[in-house]
Amino acid sequence: MTDVTPRALDARLAARLTPAVAMRAVSPATRDDASDAAISAVAVRTEQLDAMYGGVAAVRSATLTFTPGRVTAIIGPSGCGKSTLLRCINRLHETQPAARVRGAVFVDGRDVYAAGTDVVAVRRSIGFVAQRPTPFPSMNIRENVVAGLRVAGIRVSGTELEDRVEAVLQRTGLWDEVSDRLDSDPMSLSGGQQQRLCLARALAPEPRVLLLDEPTAALDPGSTQRIEELVYLLRGEVTTIIVTHNMQQAARVSDITAFMLEGELIEQAPTRVLFTAPSDARTELYLTGRFG
Ligand SMILES: Nc1ncnc2c1ncn2[C@@H]1O[C@H](COP(=O)(O)OP(=O)(O)O)[C@@H](O)[C@H]1O
Ligand SMILES: [Mg+2]
Repeated sequence: MTDVTPRALDARLAARLTPAVAMRAVSPATRDDASDAAISAVAVRTEQLDAMYGGVAAVRSATLTFTPGRVTAIIGPSGCGKSTLLRCINRLHETQPAARVRGAVFVDGRDVYAAGTDVVAVRRSIGFVAQRPTPFPSMNIRENVVAGLRVAGIRVSGTELEDRVEAVLQRTGLWDEVSDRLDSDPMSLSGGQQQRLCLARALAPEPRVLLLDEPTAALDPGSTQRIEELVYLLRGEVTTIIVTHNMQQAARVSDITAFMLEGELIEQAPTRVLFTAPSDARTELYLTGRFG
């Protein structure tokens, strides 16, 4: 059974993060600073959101608020609708056959489902990283990052372009590993490096919202830790929503956790509160490994 007492969580958090990050993690002052730094991050809110595949509702009447510049984890058993909910936020859900959405999703105060919305612009403005690394195989490493800028309509060139490529590769910890082979095939990278490249591609246009769907599910523990550190360090700048079925990961990287079950939001609370004093008995059952 997983020990979810605050002391056990703190011990795990400290053990899994590098010293610099662990210091941030346990310093309340640093956490407060993050909100002051939330200059460009925006709020996301779903309201009475239903998402269907044909006649089957995968998400039911979900109302969630995602705090600007914070990391919110969505946890819950496989098939409870986490990915579907995430894909409603950037209007990817409707790209699947017979998929429908009812309700609203507000990003920066605007309903992305309002009539007349530029769907392509919505998808471009929100960073998205999927479960399996998906570098563009026909492009080299550098071009993968540039593609992130181009897709968002950013047309910088020359030194400015090279500076942006380097900055985002630095930020995702890849620069030292790939700077001497930017023209190589991204498929020559390890799985963890490929996923950090995908994160770099998503972050290149400086999105204000970042959606991560089990970004470490296919990675080894070392690569997982690096991604978790990156996610942790994004707070303040990006409103991050991370789907994970790994409760320890949610505890390590998120400020707020939402627990879903059978398409419904059961509860959403500051991570520490949800893990130590959940208000719904079903959350407690899930956290203590008694179902799911
Ligand atoms: N493309 C699809 N077509 C039909 N049903 C789907 C599709 N994708 C997911 N579902 C169903 O929707 C429900 C929620 O799935 P999903 O959002 O992927 O859950 P999670 O990410 O929590 O594992 C599940 O019952 C799943 O079988
Ligand atoms: Mg999923």
